[in-house]
Amino acid sequence: MNPPKDSPATVHIAERLAEIERFHVVALVTRAFELEAQGKQIVNMVIGEPDFSTPQPIVDAAVDALRHRQIRYTPSLGGDELRGELQNWYRTRYGVDLPKSRIAVTSGSSGALLLTMGALLSPGDEVLMADPSYPANRHFVRAMEGRAVTVPVNAASAYQLTAELVEKNWTPRTVAVMVATPSNPTGTMIPFDELKKIHAVVKRKGGVLIVDEIYHGLTYGFDAHSTLEFADDVFVINSFSKYFCMTGWRLGWMVIPETYVDHIEKLAQNLYISNSDVAQQAAMAAFKPETLSVLEENRHKFLQQRDYLLPALRELGFDIPVEPQGAFYIYANCSAFTQDSYHFCYDLVEKAGVAIAPGIDFGEHRAAEHVRFSYPQSVAVLQEGVRRLRDYLKG
Ligand SMILES: Cc1ncc(COP(=O)(O)O)c(C=O)c1O
Repeated sequence: MNPPKDSPATVHIAERLAEIERFHVVALVTRAFELEAQGKQIVNMVIGEPDFSTPQPIVDAAVDALRHRQIRYTPSLGGDELRGELQNWYRTRYGVDLPKSRIAVTSGSSGALLLTMGALLSPGDEVLMADPSYPANRHFVRAMEGRAVTVPVNAASAYQLTAELVEKNWTPRTVAVMVATPSNPTGTMIPFDELKKIHAVVKRKGGVLIVDEIYHGLTYGFDAHSTLEFADDVFVINSFSKYFCMTGWRLGWMVIPETYVDHIEKLAQNLYISNSDVAQQAAMAAFKPETLSVLEENRHKFLQQRDYLLPALRELGFDIPVEPQGAFYIYANCSAFTQDSYHFCYDLVEKAGVAIAPGIDFGEHRAAEHVRFSYPQSVAVLQEGVRRLRDYLKG
């Protein structure tokens, strides 16, 4: 019998969900799309993805696979050939020799982070991370019943954790430290020597270091070093999303310390069986010279975009004490204009048609004084954004 209409069905919401927040950026993007649907042109500097298409050789490889192969489950840690390509990438790009068995293909770096937390955390275990940092990180930890301990960081450490901060914030419950270099939302990096020191502290304390290298390839004027060049007991996270312009294909990878491989594989088998076969076939073309030359051209365009936007924002009065060296973000102090960056961002999209992300998405520490600009847009679009900002700020 159907329950009477006025008695709603019982709803069971897991307790952990009370601590999992929405991405504010998504709400802002939704509002920007609504305004666009009403005919307003929005300068979108809010979404964290390249505006370049996936390079043609990757698309061709996917089409070819769809036409000529059966698309099936693959091994849970990824098809052998793609893992071989990644093994090669580490050898040629970083001079690091890795056994293929330690490389796992995942559903974006998001999948890699979730598996890592699933393998590492028991209820109440703590993971140290910077505030500000990528919003989902705290929630990956919470979803796996751990506790994200956010450590306020400032311009003095380029908004990154240091060995000293790790040492200071370590507790008996700490099991892991998570860093991203270059970082979202700041685009700043951990100096390689400091990363070695952080690794040494984590090792001495008996914890695990997780390094998100998703923005490798998107560093300007130099190539980033991988943590794997000096350590093999770290979880290194990466993705086809950003440098390879494959956000929507949902493919990433991780390099796993030997002792965790079986545990990660067991989790992956059960949680989702395998990743998209067609995306993996496509990614086989990601390392071809013709793809890499397109990606390097893109990188040069990102550099031009950063080099336009950074001084333009400073001239408007945004305080940006640390030059971002990578990714495609600028983290700016907006306290010359507002003490409430959240409302500032909403007002800006409504009145000026410029969408940027409020600091609150990335943590709590001085969040109301900060905003993030995402610059994967042509310089002409960025110029229009700056013009609108100037008009808006003039009041
Ligand atoms: C630092 C960082 N890590 C991980 C991700 C997740 O990316 P994906 O799952 O597309 O690889 C993002 C996305 O913006 C990010 O900025």
